[in-house]
Amino acid sequence: MASPRGRQGAGGSGGAGDGRPARTLFVNAAQVVTCAGPARARRGAEMNDAAVRTGVAVLVDPAAGTIVDVAPERDLRAAAPDAAIEDCGGGVLLPGFVDSHTHAIFGRARYEEQELRAAGVGYLEIARRGGGIHSSVRDLRTRSEEELLTLGAARLRRLIAHGTTTIEVKSGYGLTLESELTTLRVIRRLGAVLGVRLVPTFLGAHEVPLEYREAPRTRAGYLELLTREMIPAVAREGLARFCDVFCEPGVYTAAESRMVLEAARAHGLALKLHADELENGAGAELAAELGATSADHLAAISPTGIEALARSGTVATLLPGTMLFLGRTKQAPARALVEGGAAVALASDFNPGTSPTVNLPLILTLGVSQLRLSVAEAIIAATVNGAAALGLAGNVGQLAPGFAADIALFAAEDHREIPYWYGDNRCLRAWSAGVRTGPA
Ligand code: NIG
Ligand code: FE
Repeated sequence: MASPRGRQGAGGSGGAGDGRPARTLFVNAAQVVTCAGPARARRGAEMNDAAVRTGVAVLVDPAAGTIVDVAPERDLRAAAPDAAIEDCGGGVLLPGFVDSHTHAIFGRARYEEQELRAAGVGYLEIARRGGGIHSSVRDLRTRSEEELLTLGAARLRRLIAHGTTTIEVKSGYGLTLESELTTLRVIRRLGAVLGVRLVPTFLGAHEVPLEYREAPRTRAGYLELLTREMIPAVAREGLARFCDVFCEPGVYTAAESRMVLEAARAHGLALKLHADELENGAGAELAAELGATSADHLAAISPTGIEALARSGTVATLLPGTMLFLGRTKQAPARALVEGGAAVALASDFNPGTSPTVNLPLILTLGVSQLRLSVAEAIIAATVNGAAALGLAGNVGQLAPGFAADIALFAAEDHREIPYWYGDNRCLRAWSAGVRTGPA
């Protein structure tokens, strides 16, 4: 396991020496959805087992931030008689959700586009008119770092309140060197402010900014800025773990995406790709070929794309909230991906244009009702495989010894209620590394 138990507290049977118990024991859960198993992406039939246990308690070491054991309560009480007790009140415990794809740092909301789309103006047409991502870019460039921090904190707290404890956050609404660096610095600061695990991704290739579409500037000039200045600066400051590109007909071509991702890889960043979101652009094939950690969206993936992902180590991250919100009827072929042997993750795509939802349990609902995943597959997709989509499968996504004590408690007797009560928020409490993070 990549994450050892780490620093241990003062031992199972003793206190911390300062009057604080060294351990916390979570008792009285109707079910503990452990997702326990190999510390790697689950693929194909492996996804259909969330390792749900009854009659067990969870022992946590808050000093180390890890789970010590999941076992019958009496055994754990004997092992840690001084543990503080966390009464789950007959609810259901899960690993905190891992939301592996968000664009959570933005200024104003874009509610006006919802009506435009309802009136028949498509997402890419809105962008062609200077709206969409361009509108968020114009807005973000007017904001200070402090403003973005305040807005981002409030929004991420809403994600956490729904049981999410690891969140990937992309830049991509600045599209200048300075505004992209500011966004990534905000993400870094937010991790400390919120006490949850945030994973930063550089998405300077979210769009070609409007000022690079007019002479004397050119599209090639922006690609040069990305590869020669922005990526090296992001890497130098250690501001991102991943680099992503919006590879889509009308946005970035596969050839341009390759150029950006190869530069990112040369600077030590791991790779992600917005692939085949609205129209097919052979993005899945490119992600697999480049060894990207994930290929995301995939509503328009081709059969060869499915095969390429199934044969690769690239996680297929599906974002059904986006297609729902855009009013599109075509969802990613989740069953073909799972049955073909790919590792499928689910995420929110939280952003102001195509998926303004903070509700990961609702994404599970869509995973079941729109993508036809089983509940177990949807849960694995939003925990273990979400972690794998961030290169964190050894650390988070399971309630198992040695894993981070990232835990969410839901008001339910059975875990299948979580996607069932759709749109409701049944998350009662959440912990990150054994420390309470939400809801307030
Ligand atoms: O994942 N596809 C590109 N990015 C976002 C949308 C961003 C926006 O419209 O602001 C997405 O759908
Ligand atoms: Fe996205």
